[in-house]
Amino acid sequence: MLLDRIKPLDAILATAQKKSLHRSLGAVQLTLFGIGCIIGTGIFVLTAAGAQKAGPGLMLAFIIAGAVCIVAALCYAEIAAMIPVAGSAYTYSYATMGEFLAWTVGWALVLEYAIAASAVSVGWSGYFTGTILNEFFGVQLPAWLSAGPLALGGAAGGFINLPALIIALLVTWLLMIGTTESARVNAVLVAIKITALTIFIALTLTSAYFDPDKFNPFLPAGLFGGFGSGVGAVGAAATIFFAYVGFDAVSTAAEETRNPQRNVPIGLVGSLLICTIFYILVAAGAVGTIGGQPIMGPNGVPFPAGSEELARQCAMAAHADALVCSNEALAHVLRQIGFSGIGNMLGIAAFLALPSVILILLFGQTRIFFVMARDGLLPEKLSAVHPKWKTPYIVTGITGAIVAVAAAFLPVGQLADIANAGTLYAFFMVAIAVMLLRKQAPDRKRPFRVPGLAIVGPLTIAGCLFLFLNLPLEAMLVLPVWTVIGFAVYFGYSRRNSLLGRGIVEVVDDIGGQEHSFPIDVPEDAR
Ligand code: ALA
Repeated sequence: MLLDRIKPLDAILATAQKKSLHRSLGAVQLTLFGIGCIIGTGIFVLTAAGAQKAGPGLMLAFIIAGAVCIVAALCYAEIAAMIPVAGSAYTYSYATMGEFLAWTVGWALVLEYAIAASAVSVGWSGYFTGTILNEFFGVQLPAWLSAGPLALGGAAGGFINLPALIIALLVTWLLMIGTTESARVNAVLVAIKITALTIFIALTLTSAYFDPDKFNPFLPAGLFGGFGSGVGAVGAAATIFFAYVGFDAVSTAAEETRNPQRNVPIGLVGSLLICTIFYILVAAGAVGTIGGQPIMGPNGVPFPAGSEELARQCAMAAHADALVCSNEALAHVLRQIGFSGIGNMLGIAAFLALPSVILILLFGQTRIFFVMARDGLLPEKLSAVHPKWKTPYIVTGITGAIVAVAAAFLPVGQLADIANAGTLYAFFMVAIAVMLLRKQAPDRKRPFRVPGLAIVGPLTIAGCLFLFLNLPLEAMLVLPVWTVIGFAVYFGYSRRNSLLGRGIVEVVDDIGGQEHSFPIDVPEDAR
């Protein structure tokens, strides 16, 4: 009964045909778009939390998380090229596993996109207060204004993270008035991020401070710290998985891609591979120069990242310069090895580039809510389009306000872990959807087929489950609690109001007559 409402694939595909967007994106633009979504708070900030969990094994953590993302990306490539419509994992699930499970995926995507947007806002705040306010203007924002009450990692005494609140609201406002990021702006921001990371790698790996002994012991907290412990190389992988979140946004561009069979997989896997290589080298540079050993508790287990105990340790002079205590990890490393000016430039790069990651994530969130509302699963009012701005301003405003509040009061590490829990669930379901579709619709045209799906699919499922089980217990628990709230909404509202449930199979995928399935508006001359 519960799994009966499957949305016909033909109805979904009819939308794509109706839209028939100009196929303008090539492999390079798609890869740049992917990198634009991927590089953000994960590498610029969470490197510190990752080192606290794994020590030098952080490098291995980046490899483990990257590998899970690459198999998931292959699954996304097949299904996105086949069902190139908005709504991502939610839509794929609706077509294969039915409305109820699709609802759980759409609901979990809130964690991926909205909570990730909060996490990036908090990450941005670290660079804003550290580099812009402190280094350039000599202004020390009081602790109670620069961190939430629970943000104890190095900022005990926090009350509200004002800069994070403000940036989240500012980006929301930009989205409400219809701002999209042009391909050219994205390319510039990607160039800034890549340049910053390349300079970081070059300076650290060639620095006189670089000492191979710093990698010893390589796994101070072990490879596997135990399920739910959030420590060890695998625990760190579950957290820094966040550094890869967002690549799935590339899948939303399938319909606007020339030769999607070739270019969508290149965009998805290419952007991930490039970022994986950068991340491993950045981790090597950071650890090899200033060291990345965790601060251990009395029982020989690292203090939990973001915990009060760790904050207390970080406040002591002995740990003041430790990588694991920094809120702006990469700039901090450069300052420590004698490149203060370049460290500040890197801080500016993060300050400039992170807001676009927030924009893409928030855009993705409103888009998913919009599609769910159009399916009747959320109140239609939410999808109302502003007459002048031509944007779904109500859902954008509400989502943005929630994102801003979460950013104001929660610590970056916890937000990232929660976002990871939702994302891992979505990836898990996409892998199932791809395998199911091979059975349900074997003859349908697949512009891209995952080679060896019989291995790649189960590997994705197992990888997602494994990383999920290695998140800290509290983050793991958020997903079932959030899902139960989702059930209440589904059975209280959505099931009765579902268009499909009422026999209306209509797929609408445009906002206010505008085609926006991709937050990049490609200028004529860049096509
Ligand atoms: N991967 C993105 C980041 O690290 C979400 O900020």
